[in-house]
Amino acid sequence: MSKVKVGIVGSRFQADCIAGAVKAVPEEAELVAVASPTKGNAAAFAQRHGVPRSYTDYRELLKDPEVELISITAPNRLHAPITIDAAKAGKHVICEKPLCMTLEEADAMIDACKKAGVLLLYAEELFFAPKYVKAKRMADEGAFGRVHLVKQGEKHSGPHSDWFWDVNQSGGGAVMDLGCHGIAFCWWFLGKPKVASVYSQMSRQVHKDRTAGEDEAITIIEFANGAIGMVESSWNRPGGMDDCIEIFGDKGQTYADMLMGNALPTYSEVGFGYAVEKAATTKGWTYPVFEEHWNYGFPQEMRHFARCVRGQETPIADGETGRVVQEVLYAAYASAGQGRKVTLPFRPTGVAKPIDLWKKP
Ligand SMILES: NC(=O)c1ccc[n+]([C@@H]2O[C@H](COP(=O)([O-])OP(=O)(O)OC[C@H]3O[C@@H](n4cnc5c(N)ncnc54)[C@H](O)[C@@H]3O)[C@@H](O)[C@H]2O)c1
Repeated sequence: MSKVKVGIVGSRFQADCIAGAVKAVPEEAELVAVASPTKGNAAAFAQRHGVPRSYTDYRELLKDPEVELISITAPNRLHAPITIDAAKAGKHVICEKPLCMTLEEADAMIDACKKAGVLLLYAEELFFAPKYVKAKRMADEGAFGRVHLVKQGEKHSGPHSDWFWDVNQSGGGAVMDLGCHGIAFCWWFLGKPKVASVYSQMSRQVHKDRTAGEDEAITIIEFANGAIGMVESSWNRPGGMDDCIEIFGDKGQTYADMLMGNALPTYSEVGFGYAVEKAATTKGWTYPVFEEHWNYGFPQEMRHFARCVRGQETPIADGETGRVVQEVLYAAYASAGQGRKVTLPFRPTGVAKPIDLWKKP
């Protein structure tokens, strides 16, 4: 099979991660173009990653005949328009999380890709994180009996980019940023059952000066099969990224700490180059992680998506996955606003961004 030719939209944090993932699966995919609007950024990215062509306008990248698959690593509010333009240009799409801002956008993205006959792939790397995949495999083998509680937490000290603190560009706070991973994870782990209800407690604890978004949240998802998902999302945990799961069944349980659990417990009085995403220091006790992208599952995700483009595999994370997450995000914000459980289906129309359901219940 020929390598899938990938174009990246965006040139910063997640774009670097996607470039690393493509380069980690050279037999499946290769980078051919990048687009980013800030002068010089796309060219610098191209040089950094050995990408042949760079553009300042993503529409130019979409005209590039060699590009087959684009990866959208632009801010959340741009996911829908870029996806729809890409579909019209006949390109397959990998969209970063969260899928978009509104359920109407989710529908339009899915429809546009369906009409154009291109794939809409949803970049939920937790479906590919080796430790979590192992936990799911054991659960599917029956190791824990009937799984009735799945917990996922993702916590760090807050976004690295200014736009994510602006709810008009991001759509919300820690739940839009991190909770979307946990929602997708619980749903996937339990075999993608219907969601029955959502309860979420959201608050602003630490970053009131910086954002109108929630920086602390606990979201409880009740599935139609009776199992419960619990998702902790926080922008208030200094010390580096924390991503953990706990799985409970009537015959057993397992726990996984994706990053610190695979790290080298380290003490250094002088410090060193890099420990883990968003760690403020490398002095004193730290948990430097190795093969960070592999631990998250980014290369494994890229391999799967490239094989999906070649028709060798069926997507396990697609536009429909993103839409399920989007509906739960809506329900979570509405629940926090109303102070009660919200049952699904929950599809209010005319919502500009999910956080509005919390702020103006
Ligand atoms: N899967 C994950 O774990 C993960 C991790 C980080 C970010 N993300 C997601 O990736 C997306 C990007 O986040 P980030 O952290 O890389 O942000 P970032 O601020 O580091 O990068 C955003 C990029 O988008 C570019 N951009 C802005 N406007 C654009 C436009 N009109 N056309 C093309 N490019 C444009 C910017 O120039 C920049 O290069 C977000 O949706 C975020 O939620 C996912």
